[in-house]
Amino acid sequence: MVGITVFLLLGVTIGGYPLQQKANATKAYSVQDTTITFRRNVLPILKNNCMPCHFPGGTVYARYPFEEYKTVFALRKRLHTRLKSGVLDIVNTWIASGAMEK
Ligand code: HEC
Repeated sequence: MVGITVFLLLGVTIGGYPLQQKANATKAYSVQDTTITFRRNVLPILKNNCMPCHFPGGTVYARYPFEEYKTVFALRKRLHTRLKSGVLDIVNTWIASGAMEK
């Protein structure tokens, strides 16, 4: 009986031992540049949404090479006719923030 009590007490003592401090929350927050740019944000959208049809070697691509910044910059105000709202928001933000290349 005594043995069991000691055992239980030990258990409570050990169980109640201060919990390990939560792993230090020292996440490495990199200073992220959130500017939307052609290379980083817009080109991937065009690759997904336009380049399946407008691929290098195609007739439209010959006139509008979408991988070139200056081409897309010139087209920027017309992109809305071809893009769905989700990705269009990104393009609009890109334009509003100066349509940077990178
Ligand atoms: C489903 C296929 C398809 C997709 C996807 C597509 N296009 Fe086109 N696009 C065409 C075709 C077909 C033409 C007409 C070809 C011609 O005029 O020789 C065209 C023509 C164009 C032209 C030249 C005519 C004009 O309006 O001045 C531009 C610019 C253009 N597309 C931009 C885009 C952009 C930007 C995207 C993506 C946001 C896109 N297209 C997505 C098929 C597509």
